[in-house]
Amino acid sequence: MDLSVSVGHLHLSNPVMPASGPLTGDHRKMLSIASMNVGAMVTKTISTVPAVVPRPCIVATNNYVVNTELWSEYPPERWVEEFLPLFKESSGLPLIVSLGYSPDDLRALVPVFARFADAFELSTHYVADDPALMRTLIQAVKENSDRPVFLKFDPSVPEPELMAKTVEEAGGDGIVAINSLGPVYPYDQRLNGSPMGSTDGFGWLSGPAIKPVALSMIRRIKRSCSLPVIGVGGITSAADVVDFLAAGANAIQLLSGALIKGKTIYSKILADLPEVLERRGFTCAEDAIDSAVQLNEKTEVRNPVVDDKKCTKCGLCVAICPYFALSMNDKVEVDIQECFGCGLCQSRCPVGAIGGVLL
Ligand SMILES: Cc1cc2nc3c(=O)[nH]c(=O)nc-3n(C[C@H](O)[C@H](O)[C@H](O)COP(=O)(O)O)c2cc1C
Repeated sequence: MDLSVSVGHLHLSNPVMPASGPLTGDHRKMLSIASMNVGAMVTKTISTVPAVVPRPCIVATNNYVVNTELWSEYPPERWVEEFLPLFKESSGLPLIVSLGYSPDDLRALVPVFARFADAFELSTHYVADDPALMRTLIQAVKENSDRPVFLKFDPSVPEPELMAKTVEEAGGDGIVAINSLGPVYPYDQRLNGSPMGSTDGFGWLSGPAIKPVALSMIRRIKRSCSLPVIGVGGITSAADVVDFLAAGANAIQLLSGALIKGKTIYSKILADLPEVLERRGFTCAEDAIDSAVQLNEKTEVRNPVVDDKKCTKCGLCVAICPYFALSMNDKVEVDIQECFGCGLCQSRCPVGAIGGVLL
């Protein structure tokens, strides 16, 4: 199956990339991820000074990751003289160089990194919830190189629609959504506090828990501008990748999935992707992009219908029903008077025995 996609003028053999972070923190790590045939490489964010990172800096559960990483702990000179030449020598992958943060940082960095970059990604994590500043950041890149520039949005950007329009009007070439969400406080009872090395114990949230936030940002950006979007946040499977494409992403990135499940997740997702696309009725990756349909607003109550042959009587639907409308006798029974038609039981049934409320 043809998995190729385009992000503006950037043509990728497939839509899967690593997200900026520790897995792409030097040439050896980038080459290791590149060997799994991802569609493009994205560097750890590089700034004018090396980051002094509080440790511990990464903790995870099955559902989320919390981190206190900042940007690359290496100075830009090391990237220019060592990491990027060595990466380029061994890999022909399109390279997105992630840079931060101020306009002055960019004026210093863009001219020296342009020869390596097929595109720039700007981390706006600490600086840009201000449209005027976003414009200045884009100008700082455009005045110093002809490479495409993608703006990476923070999930707390107050008006993503306005910001997306601003990026488009200012000449930005695409948007990456989203960065990690926070601050969050990952209390650990064994420590009676946070394990993170930051002064306040706070960190930033990523992984499966933020997937719906990322998808909503993509939808909001897509309806307000015509720029390509790279979706990122919570992807751990090929099914997630297709969800992001359907929501409007032209390509995707992931990091926390690898921190939770292992770094071979990139090759696993790429191996699974053709079958998942086919099962969902797509003949190629491009077909899936922006294919989500908008269902009509509705308020009528539809009651669950339980398929007794499929039901294992596990009792989960009864236990979770927020309207106390389900009970278990010989089988699950629905009290139509009490049922609110909320949909929770159908969404949670582990064997798909409940129909009638959702589609
Ligand atoms: C340990 C860690 C380090 C990160 N470092 C960076 C970074 O240097 N630059 C950046 O733009 N985003 C950084 N991020 C954010 C990720 O690139 C990504 O936007 C976010 O984690 C959501 O995607 P995910 O759920 O697939 O991890 C980092 C995330 C983590 C977990």
